[in-house]
Formats: sequence, structure tokens, C-alpha cells
Amino acid sequence: MENIDKKRMEKIIEIKHRLGNKLVILTHHYQRKEIVDLGDHRGDSFGLSQRAAKDENAEYIIFCGVHFMAESAAILAKDHQTVQIPDMNAGCWMADMADSYQVEKAWNEVSAIVGKQRVTPLVYMNSDAYIKAHCGKNNGAVCTSSNALKAFEWALRQREKIFFFPDEHLGRNTGNSLGIPTNQMRVWDPEKPLGGNSESDIKNTKIFLWKGYCLVHTRFTPHDMETMRKDFPDAKIVVHPECTQEVVKASDAVGSTSFIVSYVADAPPGATIIIGTEINLIKRLAMEYPNKRILPLKDSFCPNMNKINLKNLLACLENIGKTNLVTVDESIKKDALIALENMLSL
Ligand code: 13P
Ligand code: SF4
Repeated sequence: MENIDKKRMEKIIEIKHRLGNKLVILTHHYQRKEIVDLGDHRGDSFGLSQRAAKDENAEYIIFCGVHFMAESAAILAKDHQTVQIPDMNAGCWMADMADSYQVEKAWNEVSAIVGKQRVTPLVYMNSDAYIKAHCGKNNGAVCTSSNALKAFEWALRQREKIFFFPDEHLGRNTGNSLGIPTNQMRVWDPEKPLGGNSESDIKNTKIFLWKGYCLVHTRFTPHDMETMRKDFPDAKIVVHPECTQEVVKASDAVGSTSFIVSYVADAPPGATIIIGTEINLIKRLAMEYPNKRILPLKDSFCPNMNKINLKNLLACLENIGKTNLVTVDESIKKDALIALENMLSL
């Protein structure tokens, strides 16, 4: 490690000691190793939002992850807490694929055809606060990859249909797990009239799937898996549910980033595990479990997650409670909180 990074790490540790339990640093599993090592809690997006809701002692929350995660922590934060993100530009491509205007428009179109009391809006955590607020206002909930199944079951107990934003693949994979027939899950393309569906399609749809996706996870293909299986016949393949249904169906296991971490931890020594998710996590797991062979299904890198580094983390700490503050407009906070609390109480 370069001398300058060593110095930054020392300064970060010193500030952490000085602030004690007034400060909490949350780090997502896709963060660089040095960031994860300096954090207080690492986790998937569900675990970190639970953590943010729990840590009432901390005045300062620093979120090392992407913007929607820090924004969710800001919605859950109490009045005496501030949330900072080391790089304000660490966004998420998928979250950007649904904007509030398009979502409202789609919701009104579907409601006009089937009646809004027949549809539960469900939103993936990877979305902005406006869309979470839309769901809260319409008695829906947020979900993450680790509780999507529960959230879908809950939603279908409320009303007969679900409108799921913005990840088509997580929505379809969850619908498949629930045994929803393929022809009752329809993609909603916001660029097309009625999302590209006819009125009768809309009436017969159980789950509307917003046409959004993660560029990191949709890179994996069944062909990649066949090639890896040929080279490593005894290996297990575990993937994230943002992958396509073809990849999920050809895998041995599927789950959130925390599920993947536990899957590797629980595998016997000597096991070969091939992972279909973001490369920073896979590299770290390979270092943490030298007695297991951990391989990427293919290199797939999230540049947004990688924007957080020692330099901008230190800058945040040196300006604690002052710079890179993540805030949420009061007019939407209340409804967004309802959607997040509905998830936390699932
Ligand atoms: P997890 O909720 O599994 O941590 O996933 C978040 C994410 O953005 C995956 O791309
Ligand atoms: Fe968004 Fe994909 Fe990056 Fe996750 S990996 S933060 S879904 S772009």
C-alpha cells in the first residue's frame, strides 16, 4: 500500500477513536477491501438499513455504498442524526431507470384499467426516495434481494396484483419462485404506450415488471456458466437475483450479497465456488477464504460502488456532519418512511 494511503488510514482510525460511538460507518459488501476493513458494520442493503434504523446513539452515519442506500438511511435517521456519503456521485444505474414522473404515469394508467385498490406497489431498495414515497402513499412497501419473496407474498395478501419497480429480473425471479405463470408477468416499458401492453394484457397480469436492470448482473450468461462448469465440474455456482432468469435457473444457489457471503463461509474447505456478482466482493471473499477456491463467473465491476475510497472517506470524516450530507425532502420523507417501515416489519 502506498505511503499516502497508510497515512489516510491512520487519520481515519484516529478520527474514529475520537468520535467513539457518536459515529457509525456502514459499508456495503461491494466496497473496496480497505473501506470494509475500516467500517463498523458491513452488510447487504437490507442489513445496512436495519442497522441504520437501530443505531440511535450515533449522531453521524457515514454510508459507504451508493446513493439510494445512504438516502434510505437518511429516511430512517432520527432528527439528531446526519447521513453522509463520501462521494455524492456514487449513483446506481438501475435506480436511474425509473423516475417518479414515469412511475406516477404508469401507476395511473394501470389503476384506470384495473382499479388501484387491486394493485400493490412494491419497490426495490435500488430506487430514489420519490418512488419509495409513491409506494408508501399507496400502501406498498420497499423490498431488497434478501426479502423479496416475503415482500411479494405480503403484497399478494394485500391485493391481487403487484407493480414492481425497477428491476425486471429480481421481479421475474421472485415471481418464478412463487410459481406465477410466465404469461401473468408482463414487462412495463415506460417508453411505450401502456408500457407496451394491451388493456386485456393488463387485466390478466399478476405482476407488472418495470423494464429496469443492473448492467453488472445482466452481463452473466448461461454460456458463461456452461464454460465454467466444463472447466470446474465439481464447482457450485451462486448468483445474485438481479441476474436473468436463465442464469438463475442454471445456478446452484441464488441470493443477496449477504447470502453469497454466508454461502462461501458455510462451504467445506477445498470447495470451488463460482460467483455471479460484483467483482470487489468476490476478490475479498477469495482473500478471506484461502482454503476454498473462489472464482468470478466473469469480471463484472460496479464503478459506482468503487467511487468510495480512502481519500473521500477521510474528507467526509474531517468534515463530519457538514459535507456530502444526504437529505430527503420533508414532503416525501413521511411516505417513503411508511414504505421502508412496511419492509422492516415484514
Ligand atoms: P444486496 O441487497 O444483495 O446487497 O444488493 C444490492 C445491489 O445493489 C446489488 O447490485
Ligand atoms: Fe446498482 Fe448494479 Fe451497482 Fe448494484 S451493482 S449498485 S444494482 S449498478
